[in-house]
Amino acid sequence: MQSIKPLMEDLYEGELNALEANDSFPKPPNWRLSPRAVRAFILGQDEPLPWQGKEVIISRKFYGDDPLVERAIVTLAGNRGLLLIGEPGTAKTMLSELLSAAICRNSRNTVQGTAATTEDTIKYSWNYALLLAKGPVREALVPGPLFVGMEQGIFTRFEELTRCPQEVQDSLISVLSDKVLNIPEFGEQGILPARPGFNIIATANTRDRGVNEMSSALKRRFNFETVQPIKDVKLEAEIIESQVTRLLQASGVTPEVDRTIVELLATAFHELREGATAEGKRIDQPSSVMSTAEAVSVYYQSAMDAYYYGNGYVKMDALVRYLTGTIAKENRDDLEKLRSYFRSIVKQRSQTGGAAWQAFFEARKQLK
Ligand SMILES: Nc1ncnc2c1ncn2[C@@H]1O[C@H](COP(=O)(O)OP(=O)(O)OP(=O)(O)O)[C@@H](O)[C@H]1O
Ligand SMILES: [Mg+2]
Repeated sequence: MQSIKPLMEDLYEGELNALEANDSFPKPPNWRLSPRAVRAFILGQDEPLPWQGKEVIISRKFYGDDPLVERAIVTLAGNRGLLLIGEPGTAKTMLSELLSAAICRNSRNTVQGTAATTEDTIKYSWNYALLLAKGPVREALVPGPLFVGMEQGIFTRFEELTRCPQEVQDSLISVLSDKVLNIPEFGEQGILPARPGFNIIATANTRDRGVNEMSSALKRRFNFETVQPIKDVKLEAEIIESQVTRLLQASGVTPEVDRTIVELLATAFHELREGATAEGKRIDQPSSVMSTAEAVSVYYQSAMDAYYYGNGYVKMDALVRYLTGTIAKENRDDLEKLRSYFRSIVKQRSQTGGAAWQAFFEARKQLK
């Protein structure tokens, strides 16, 4: 059955099969691919690979920081966990899914960290009907993602680790250092040693409760990698275009993506995020998150709007309306910063920057 958001291992099954079939490099125990092949899967490679009589192209999926990806793969082969930290929308989750899909062919084994996450949901809980009937036997135990990762020798992905209460975070310490899970209910037999291949990939958002609040004992058991927003406007525009195309196809909507509008949007997001224009002029930075993911969502919504209510072409009025929604989400004062960006920068570009900037400026009446 088709899913709205397919798993990475399903989405890229062909690429993973081709990489696996052509991989002759050394692999850490229980890994499906060698570190070199994992790198190629995430960063792409020039040469297509032969598989079942076809040539399979290995596409680039993560942009901006190749050494970070290499270090992340090496970390996962070692005895420390990997913690990807950074601003929202910098592809931390995507990277963690890609790594798990490439290395374990399984990106589903996940804990979604929230304030309500408990140790039981991470480790294991009990089917109480069976527990009462048969006592604490394996059959009555309901494995959580940590149990599954350790038993099968695959990764446990831990999303938004720092949103969990500290005592829940700290339950990872013994697992990461001793690589065993204690199950006291099983008595003396109650030890699950982790199979080789097990590790943890956690993500944490710098806007949420701080990474600083993690205990230092836990910090020492993770290698930290900071994922930065994309610095290059052209590259960001390419990512927006490819993501929007994919999302629209998944929604059964297939209008052409307008490259000029995407570039304009990427420029505006970049400038507002950095607090400076391409020409080096300083502007007021909104406090709202101005990530690539947000830019994707603004264009996607405008395109859906155009498809259902208009003639299929994205209108600047809709774009500015959705942009306003994104920027005003966290802080109403940010709207004034957006207005001021229009009054100075967009106005100037509307005179020299071409028809798209002109239409963008004319749509400023939507900035209510
Ligand atoms: N460097 C990048 N390379 C490729 N795609 C990117 C990059 N940065 C952002 N994106 C796009 O942004 C989307 C958002 O990514 P994702 O949800 O993984 O972010 P996140 O860092 O986990 O955010 P949050 O902190 O809100 O959970 C990705 O699916 C991808 O489309
Ligand atoms: Mg995430």
